[in-house]
Amino acid sequence: MRPIFIAGNWKLNPPTLAEARQLAVDLKVQLPSGSGVEVAVCPPAAFLAPVVEAVSGSSIKVGSQDSSPHASGAYTGELSTNMVKSLGCAYAVIGHSERRQYHGETNQSVNQKTVAALASGLVPIVCVGETLAEREDSVTFAVVEQQLREGLKGLSDSVKTGAELVIAYEPVWAIGTGKVATPAQAQEVHAFIRQILASIFNSAIADRLVIQYGGSVKADNAEELLSQTDIDGALVGGASLKADSFVGIITAANAVAVSA
Ligand code: PGA
Repeated sequence: MRPIFIAGNWKLNPPTLAEARQLAVDLKVQLPSGSGVEVAVCPPAAFLAPVVEAVSGSSIKVGSQDSSPHASGAYTGELSTNMVKSLGCAYAVIGHSERRQYHGETNQSVNQKTVAALASGLVPIVCVGETLAEREDSVTFAVVEQQLREGLKGLSDSVKTGAELVIAYEPVWAIGTGKVATPAQAQEVHAFIRQILASIFNSAIADRLVIQYGGSVKADNAEELLSQTDIDGALVGGASLKADSFVGIITAANAVAVSA
């Protein structure tokens, strides 16, 4: 019922425009045909427009890695959601743990940015997830619930079908560490997230909302993760930087989609 959605978060990579274009073109060429899986890439802001151009004619969508809560004005360095939308992008990643950790993002700023993205017609990919210390303190559920309730506050008017929003569960301890959550660990939190989404919105919307898993997803662990009932996709960092490895994940997702 829910589509599988695989998104690549390129973070601060690759170093040059030429390499970004090449990665986008390689992906377009190698994308498995007839794929029922939705695919997006989220390059650095500087490369958004050329990557939109490079993937045009394919089903690959493009998203920003962040966006401003402000529409315009004296906000040096910001990137508005209308700007992102006007480049031909479809998504905006919001509240990634690296933004929370290094740029002081809070659930409140995540909320403002999510509101702005929705108003511009972008689909926000709202990231939540606990740190290692929080998991060890057994507060994973409490942390994730607070991130969701505060980050998605006041959105019931803008989220009407469930297609407007994506949630990414990314345990911080699994990001870039090679330490992937076990499918059971991830499924447990995904099921909990869907329960919270049902209480924030309603159960029909919660059933339709795509919840991605992120944190050391690779071609060889993707199929098992994506086979879990409440894992509807992946937000992929490191393995999205090479067309081969990203396509490997999409191929695994296709296998899950076909067998569903
Ligand atoms: P990773 O990053 O796949 O390199 O662990 C995931 C993310 O940060 O979105």
